[in-house]
Parts: sequence; structure tokens; C-alpha cells
Amino acid sequence: MCGIVGYTGAKPAMPILMAGLGQLEYRGYDSAGLALQRRKDIDIIRACGRLSELRDALPKRSAANAGIGHTRWATHGEPSVNNAHPHSDAAGELALVHNGIIENASELKAHLAGLGVSFHTDTDSEVLAALIHHEYQADQDLLAATRRALTRTVGTWGIAVMHKDHKGEIVTARNGSPVIIGVGEHEMFLASDAQALVPYTRQVIYLEDGELARITARSYEVQDLHATRTERLPATIDIEATLASTGEHAHFTLKEIYEQPDALRRLMSGRLDERFATAHFGGLNLTPKELLGFKRIKLLGCGSALISASIGAATIERLARIPADAESAAEFRYRNPIIETDTLYFAVSQSGETFDSLAAVQEIQRKGGTVLGVVNVVGSSIARQCGAGMYLHAGPEVAVVSTKTFASTLAAFTLFALYLARMRDLAPAEGSRVIEALQGLPDLVQSLVEKHETYKGIAEKYADFDRAYFVGRGEGYGLAQEGALKLKEISYIHAEAYPASELKHGPLALIDPQTPTFAVVPDDDLLSKNRSTLAEIRTRKGPVIAICHEGTLSDEADDIIEVPRSHPATDPIALLIPLQFIAYYAALARGCDVDKPRNLAKSVTVE
Ligand code: F6R
Repeated sequence: MCGIVGYTGAKPAMPILMAGLGQLEYRGYDSAGLALQRRKDIDIIRACGRLSELRDALPKRSAANAGIGHTRWATHGEPSVNNAHPHSDAAGELALVHNGIIENASELKAHLAGLGVSFHTDTDSEVLAALIHHEYQADQDLLAATRRALTRTVGTWGIAVMHKDHKGEIVTARNGSPVIIGVGEHEMFLASDAQALVPYTRQVIYLEDGELARITARSYEVQDLHATRTERLPATIDIEATLASTGEHAHFTLKEIYEQPDALRRLMSGRLDERFATAHFGGLNLTPKELLGFKRIKLLGCGSALISASIGAATIERLARIPADAESAAEFRYRNPIIETDTLYFAVSQSGETFDSLAAVQEIQRKGGTVLGVVNVVGSSIARQCGAGMYLHAGPEVAVVSTKTFASTLAAFTLFALYLARMRDLAPAEGSRVIEALQGLPDLVQSLVEKHETYKGIAEKYADFDRAYFVGRGEGYGLAQEGALKLKEISYIHAEAYPASELKHGPLALIDPQTPTFAVVPDDDLLSKNRSTLAEIRTRKGPVIAICHEGTLSDEADDIIEVPRSHPATDPIALLIPLQFIAYYAALARGCDVDKPRNLAKSVTVE
């Protein structure tokens, strides 16, 4: 999704801005641009497509020591050079980059048009540029003009603005879309994602919603929308400056699938307590007594995060015997939810920036509820808004689709379920069995990853089909949802997930030899029910591919992928691995851009 970078200092700005945009590339975008401040002018260069197109459009050299840059993921107006950021006012005096959505753009545009302002793009961001320019006429103060413009604006923004007459000055603001200032030695950076700052500085200031800042090479000044100054000291961030390389792997997706054993090791490191057969968490900020006071648990997230939340809820309920369920963060926040103080809420988000999940957190907090974050990106908006929770420590996930963070989220909830269960009534012996299964998980996942050739053969066999079903029961249904989502996202095969029990209530009508069904069949109490489902499908000549525990099925499916048994609380993580590979290899066989699927962004920072 859209990304912002900015630089002001003594060095040439252009290469720094391009490197910053490169760090944000993984988020997904369809066009990009830079604004470079020359002596008395601002050059704006924009291009559609990848950063290489922008690089071709840039001058060989630029003397600019300040500038802003943007990668755009179209919301208002089609992807085109004209709609790409930075945007300017009609006189070309200022440049603005914007993440978010201006909800009252049409009213503002009509008002400005009435004053004689002309517009040249289909974007809401251009309206904001024009409004700031209009306000600037009053006192030629860029910070004050931006502040006045924003008080008239409804919506979400992360912005950076420069004016040709304010050399070396960038004004930035945040409301619902992240902006982070990087403080260097006689130079300042800014970005919408800390990943773009870490090659240069670890000293950062996270702007809060409703804040603005003016930065120059040697100073920063933060204030709110009422012009009240806020004293802010930089914090040190602790994330790796990685990205950019797929290493020995052909794609980031594949690399991240392979990284799962290590990601799981990192997640569990220091969190398992063999002596008391429980888990430890450093950041929940809740005493055992407080935790025992909760009567229900509700998990919220979007997309794969929501699916991992639903499997996590099932694991918590199974082990800790406390009612737990999961809900789409977007649905939740818009239904005026009843927030109960004896419900413990979790917001699950890899990026920690998903707008709907962040808004759900704010809704819970506004109504006095307790919400913890389960987040991968350290220091992200959801992590900071929650102020407590569990970090996944899975390392940066660059591919648009989530793989390793999905597995890590499942493991995080197993740890939490164990922790809570041992506070409630889980016997130490059963707790030890969960710990043993967790400890064996990285090696088990490694052994499954090594069987990738088997999954490749099956994926290629079914890659030419136009549609597929994924079925399962209980946590197996969650895995079916994840398998279907991954397949549709990267291979564009229409994939639908159903609880296996629902098949005969309608979907069975579509089963035919051209509709393969991927069935998740663990060796559990529902095995015989699942066997009946497979028989129903095969009677209708539908091909069946079963992902099952070793020795559970023989001739009930056309293709069988066997996975060793672990423990009911950890089985979903093992059964997940073949599904990830099937999506990956099917997409590859269909010639798709696996790491950057069409229309999708890594971090969905708009509603
Ligand atoms: C699917 C996928 C998305 C994300 C969703 C939430 O592969 O990656 O469905 O899971 O956009 O993102 P986060 O976890 O960053 O909140």
C-alpha cells in the first residue's frame, strides 16, 4: 500500500529517497514519484509501474538536498502518471505526498473550484495540496497553512509537504496513516514505515494521530492541530534493516515459507517454562489474577490474520476451556460493538498497520475494554496503540501474502492458550505434552518443508483447473480457509472454503471432475465424518486431495499428502505447510507474479 519517504540534510536527496522507496516496494504499489527541491523550485518526477520506470524518468544527477517520495496504490483515480504523487497546487509551488483517504474531498474541491482553483488529477490528494496552498496565502507559514488545511479535512492522512520558498523544510502530519521521523546527524528522514529509516538511523519519533511536524536538517518541531507544541524525544527502534534479497530462493514467498522453522524458534525463545509446564510472556501487562477475571476472549483481525485468529480462538477454547471466538475487525468496528470489561480482546496484525484492525483497537479502548496486540512489526501503530501484547519476532515478511507470520500467530496463540490453561485447570502433564509438541514443531516443519517436491507435483497436476474447494472441520476448516485464500491470492484460481459439514447443504451442486477439493483431514474425533465427506465428493466424480495425518487415509482420496501427528494444539501448523506450497507452486505453474499479486498490498492502511 502507499508509502512515503522524505529527506532533508546535506547529502544528495535523490538516491536516499529512491533507496527508501525501494525498502517500501514490498508493500505493493502501482506508480511512484519524487519531488526534489532545487534552489528556488521543486522538480516533480512521476512514473506508472515499478520503481525502475521512475528511475528511467529521473535525471542522472540532482543537486537537491531535500525531497519527498511516494509509492501509490490507487484508491481515488486509476493508476496513471497523472494521478501518481507528489501532487502540486495549480501554480506548482508546493509538493505533497499523501497516504490515506480524504472523505470530504468533493466538498473541498467544489469550494476551491468556486474560488477559481483548477484541478488536473482524479485524486483526493491533489485537493489537499490545493487547500494547503490556498491557506498558505494568508501568512506564508507552511506548518500553519498545513495545520489550518487539516482542520478542515475529514479522513485519514499521512502526508509530507514541501514549498519552493521553504528550502530544506518538510512539513508532515499523521491521522490514521503512519508517519515516522528519523533523526540523523544534521539530517532528518521521514517514512511511513520504519523499514525505510533503519539503514540511516535508529532514532525515531512516531507521530501520533492529529499531530504535525516541521523538520529541517537540524531541527524538528511537533504540534497538534490546535498548534499546541508537544515535546517529543526520539526513541530507539530495534528492527533489522533487511529486505531486498530473496537469497537462494526464487521468491520472497518461498524464502518466507522456508524461514518458518526459525521464525517458530524465535517466537518460542524464552517463552516456554518446562518446570511449571506453562509459557511466559513479557509484554501482556496483566497479572494472573487479572487474566483469571476475564470470562471470554475475542480475537480480531483481517484476511489471513482473521483466519489465524479463528484457529487461535479454537485452540484457546480447547486448552483453556474459556469461550473464545474471532471476528473480522472491520465488521466488528462498524457494528457498534458491546465492549465488556470481562472480555479480553486481541488484535492480530502482521504489519500492525491494518486500518480496520487499528480502528477496532481504538473502539475497544474508547469503550473501556482491554485489548492486546499480536503483531509482527515492532513499534507499528497497533503495537503502540495496544501498548501490550505479544510480538511474533518472525522477521520482516516481504511477500504480499503472509506465510511465516500466519504460522507464528498460530504458535503464539498455542503458547497463550497453554499459559491461560495452566492458570485454569489444565493438568501439568497435559501442559508438558503441549510444550513437547511446541519444542518439536520447528523440526517437524523443517521436515515438511523438505518434502516440497511432493507438493509441487500435486500443485502442478491441478494448476490448470479454474476452481477448487477447500474443506475441513474445526481448526481444519480454518486451514481450509487459509489454503483457499493463499491459492486465490497468488494463482488467481477461484478457491472457496467450506466447513466439510456444509458441503451437502449446497456447494455439492458444483462438484464435478473439473472441481478438485482439497480436504484437511487430521486424525481426530471427526475423522469418520471427514471420510464420509470425501466419499460424497468422489461419488460425484470430484477429485480429492487430502492433507491428512499419516496412515489415516488410503484409497479415499486421489492424492494424499501425509503429515506426522504432533498434538491437537500444534497440528494446524504442520497441516498448514503443504497448503502454502500448493498455492506457491500452482501460481508458479500459471506464470503468476507470486510475490506481488495483482490488486493486493502488503499493508492495508486504508478502510
Ligand atoms: C493474505 C494476507 C492478508 C493480510 C491482511 C491483514 O495472505 O496477507 O489477508 O493477512 O491484509 O494484514 P495484517 O496482518 O498486516 O493486519
